[in-house]
Amino acid sequence: MDYKPLINASKLPDVKTTIFTTVGNLAREHNAIDLSQGFPNFEADDKLKSLVTDALNNGYNQYAPMPGYFGLREVISEKIETLHNRTYDPENEITVTVGATEAIFTAITAFINIADEVIVIKPAYDCYEPAIILNGGIPVYVQLDTPDYKIDWTVFQQKITDKTKMVILNTPHNPSGTILSKLDMEQLEKILKPTNIILLSDEVYEHIIFDGQVHESASRFPDLANRSFVCASFGKTFHVTGWKVGYCVAPAELMKEFRKVHQFAVFCVDHPVQRALAEYLKNPSHYLDLNNFYQKKRNFFLEGIKLSKFKFKPSQGTYFQLLDYSPISNEEDEVIGERLIIENGIASIPISSFNVDNRNDHMLRFCFAKKQETLEKAVEILCKL
Ligand SMILES: Cc1ncc(COP(=O)(O)O)c(C=O)c1O
Repeated sequence: MDYKPLINASKLPDVKTTIFTTVGNLAREHNAIDLSQGFPNFEADDKLKSLVTDALNNGYNQYAPMPGYFGLREVISEKIETLHNRTYDPENEITVTVGATEAIFTAITAFINIADEVIVIKPAYDCYEPAIILNGGIPVYVQLDTPDYKIDWTVFQQKITDKTKMVILNTPHNPSGTILSKLDMEQLEKILKPTNIILLSDEVYEHIIFDGQVHESASRFPDLANRSFVCASFGKTFHVTGWKVGYCVAPAELMKEFRKVHQFAVFCVDHPVQRALAEYLKNPSHYLDLNNFYQKKRNFFLEGIKLSKFKFKPSQGTYFQLLDYSPISNEEDEVIGERLIIENGIASIPISSFNVDNRNDHMLRFCFAKKQETLEKAVEILCKL
């Protein structure tokens, strides 16, 4: 009998073990201070945790409604209306998702067909491209440059063709820690106005923004909001990345297609957690205080780093800080990243893995969502380099 291989060709031939896994494993092996992974090493609010326990004990242990618990969708709607002055109908325009990752995958799957082009701004978080490629789409890149990582809107506009179906934006931006300004959003709005391009706006760090700046959500700009999926993550906002609950908002006609995919990918999201989040969100200070909370951590980290040889521009948002190591070494970023783990006991993420063609910009990404003692140890190590 002929041997028939089970796998003829990978659908994602270029996907390897992610840099996060590789670095995380190495950091554990060498017992390094780990500032590589993008999640807190401190606990979430006890109040939130006990709300989940209450929901479990009160019998919310069966499927939630497909688009999400209605009470949660209602508070999400109120939050967006208060912050960004746009009303999303909880019935038809808001869906609770398995983290922002599912929201992103679902929006791409619902709209991207073979040979559709999707503009991706690089450096980019790593979940966009596999979703585009799995659906037969083609990522089209706009590479940003150090140290400002600003989008040149003329370059951006040149990438638009009659095949462009979607643009993916991320503000505040992982990994650069930059944010898009009102002017940026207005320029984007003007460029997209004569087109039928969909905007996928990844805003998972919406509540981590510094120095009194405003988060310019796509939902604040009517012509953008009318064509946008805006994705958010409770994991990032409430220090519970392991719960994997987020949401997505979009005009009803877009959301209708989104839900067709969501329905058959996951059907619905963890019910007791949704009940707890609905209660917890009723107090706006639970998310409005986050800027301050993380600004203190950013400031502490940067004050310490000032005494080091690294160059940097202060992060404007997210819980990441890029450090330019060129005054210390001209090694490839993956090489110095690995060396710092093994020889100095500190882990970070080399940025080349987020860039087009793995371009080396001599940048390492450090996550400051860490306990004070972790940050103190990290600063001490970095200042000795
Ligand atoms: C820019 C960006 N988008 C999306 C996600 C995924 O969010 P979630 O954990 O809610 O799926 C992350 C997580 O690191 C991220 O940094």
